[in-house]
Amino acid sequence: MATGMPECSPALLVAAGLAVLAICSYLATIVVGRGAARYPPVVGTVFHQVYHLRRLHDYFTDLFREHATFRLLAPGRRQIYTSDTAVVEHILRTNFANYEKGASNYDKMGDLFGDGIFAVDGDKWKQQRKIASYDFSTRALRDFSGGVFNRNAAKLAHIVSGNAAAKQPMDFQALLMKATMDSIFTIAFGVDLGTLSGSDEGSRFAAAFDDASEFILLRYVDAFWKVSRFLNVGAEAALRHRIKVVDEFVYKCIRARADEMSDGNKAHDTGSKDDLLSRFILATNSDTGKVDYKYLRDIILNIVMAGKDTTAGALAWFLYMMCKHPEVQEKISKEAADAGEATSSIDDFSRSLTEEALNKMHYLHAALTETLRLYPSLPLYLFVGGVSG
Ligand code: HEM
Repeated sequence: MATGMPECSPALLVAAGLAVLAICSYLATIVVGRGAARYPPVVGTVFHQVYHLRRLHDYFTDLFREHATFRLLAPGRRQIYTSDTAVVEHILRTNFANYEKGASNYDKMGDLFGDGIFAVDGDKWKQQRKIASYDFSTRALRDFSGGVFNRNAAKLAHIVSGNAAAKQPMDFQALLMKATMDSIFTIAFGVDLGTLSGSDEGSRFAAAFDDASEFILLRYVDAFWKVSRFLNVGAEAALRHRIKVVDEFVYKCIRARADEMSDGNKAHDTGSKDDLLSRFILATNSDTGKVDYKYLRDIILNIVMAGKDTTAGALAWFLYMMCKHPEVQEKISKEAADAGEATSSIDDFSRSLTEEALNKMHYLHAALTETLRLYPSLPLYLFVGGVSG
């Protein structure tokens, strides 16, 4: 029978099979075997992450059970993952200068995060890190942010207690997301976003910001995101639209505050604002006499991003843990009652929870810390760096 194919003897097929096997094992030795001496083992590719996207944390936990440090292959590069504290210390402390977030990261994050702390390296990162750690340690900002968190916690307590009285089910995580978003936004921009109270404009901004962050994350698993961005289709088109909504709102806040604080409006008491935006505007004004709107947008939006989901996630897991451990819940409730004022009013009670009162709540502190250990708000953290292989 003519098939158009040359006839192959079984011996030839076996020989060819063995040759392919030999080449594969040689390549495997180069990639994995040689690496075993110097590099952590390769346990998969980045495409496995796409496959396991819906159970990504479980997937990584499974891999970390086998290897404390490992590599995943990606087109043109290798990614190293570690759960080894000695390696983390090497990267974040002893050899920090060798590691950076890198150009590819900046490429992906830049459209939303601009030149903010999460996207940049080097001097820009250092400058923002210094400002952020200095500002957050000042008495004024700590008092201001403590007050903001306290007021929003009371607002949240009113909503929860109303729903409970009406036997109305509620999505606790969604409520916490709103409460932390409102708090961080006020600390950052000095404006109440009002998502807890259902403000349309604030909720539109918050939804656009959340969506945009998710679309940015998708870029890490979509090899063709640049093509989609170029063609302005799919997730990239949606991202562009969301960034527009975010920018319009943020620039409106910045312009309004800058105008209030400008020399032309002496009636406004510039010293009375303790939010980050006012502080940055004052700092830029005194340096150059000019306000760089874009840089301010980038710096402050990154801080909003850093603070809101981490805090809401930690609190959601904390409440979950309290439901699982009613005996711990009891102890915390008693500790809070002892630390605060005995009153049936939510607002009076929350006002009585001063920094001094909170500092006495050691059991609460331990329970929160343990929750963060078991359910870290940032289970994966990315950096790119001077290691090759
Ligand atoms: C439960 C709450 C939080 C957790 C678990 C958390 C965790 C983290 C982690 C693991 C990092 C990366 C490590 C590093 O770069 O040093 C980080 C970075 C950062 N966090 Fe938080 N965070 C929380 C809340 C906040 C809040 C409330 C703010 C500010 C309003 C904030 C601002 C930042 C900033 C600006 C960075 C970037 C630091 C840098 O790149 O140098 N975080 N956070």
